[in-house]
Amino acid sequence: MSTQNTAPATSTSSATEGATETAVAEGRIQQVRRYLMCRPEHFTVSYRINPWMEPANPTDTALAVRQWQALYDTYVALGHEVHLIDPIQGLPDMVYTANGGFVIDNVAYGAKFRFQERVPEGPAFMDWFRANGFEVAEPVEVNEGEGDFLLVGETILAGTGFRSTGDSHRELADVFGKEVVSLNLVDPRFYHLDTAISVLDPVEGPGGVEKANIAYLEHAFDERSQAILAERYPDAIRVADADGAVFGLNSASDGLNVIISPRAKGFEAQLRERGYNPVLVDLSELLLGGGGIKCCTLELRR
Ligand code: ARG
Repeated sequence: MSTQNTAPATSTSSATEGATETAVAEGRIQQVRRYLMCRPEHFTVSYRINPWMEPANPTDTALAVRQWQALYDTYVALGHEVHLIDPIQGLPDMVYTANGGFVIDNVAYGAKFRFQERVPEGPAFMDWFRANGFEVAEPVEVNEGEGDFLLVGETILAGTGFRSTGDSHRELADVFGKEVVSLNLVDPRFYHLDTAISVLDPVEGPGGVEKANIAYLEHAFDERSQAILAERYPDAIRVADADGAVFGLNSASDGLNVIISPRAKGFEAQLRERGYNPVLVDLSELLLGGGGIKCCTLELRR
């Protein structure tokens, strides 16, 4: 592989600096993002709609807030713009804003939740989008937003099997006029697409070169979907089951920095090898609700 070495010839004084230089050599470019988050003030596990949730186990809301704050602070320190939606009492899963919709070019396709417990979140997020200048496309079909829809270059990868329906994939294609590729999830632990795929380079590289790449957990998908992913993303990082099982893929990348769980050791090493800069943020308390870094992050694409 030919690497264009544009890194300045300085001596490396820290691990982070070293990683950044490699990243530059590999052509990794950070893009500033706009995110929507929700402080988990009312976080708890009072019902069970995924295998991670166990209402009998205690949760520590103050710890959840502290861990969430560390993620918020990390985004801000990296230069990203973070917007907040007010948490609503009685909606403990609202912290997982990725499920609140799917936004491209200031158009928000609203969410329509599968389970009754989360249904009121749909209109709450749509109200926020309207109040903040987004055009809202109201959903007819059941879909859980960016939890199941991921923009990779000009293509939307769309998950189904547990939450969003196949019909929502068609609706999504109508709303955005983009290619939608349906993928079937088969392992109940990985019930949203963003628990099994991480988009590392969501957009095209300089000069419109398609350089979008992903990381994924093969065993979360049926055979047909595995074949599609292998064909479309021959350079993808395939993560080990052990890293997938700690929600390693539920991560957020800005093209250079990839915010991941500190438990995903193998994935962390794979990212470094490819010239990304892994940034470790522990959301162990929010994992009790079956969510991680990406779940707490909705991208607001202009
Ligand atoms: N308790 C939430 C649920 O089961 C967790 C959502 C996680 N979000 C995500 N984008 N994967 O709906």
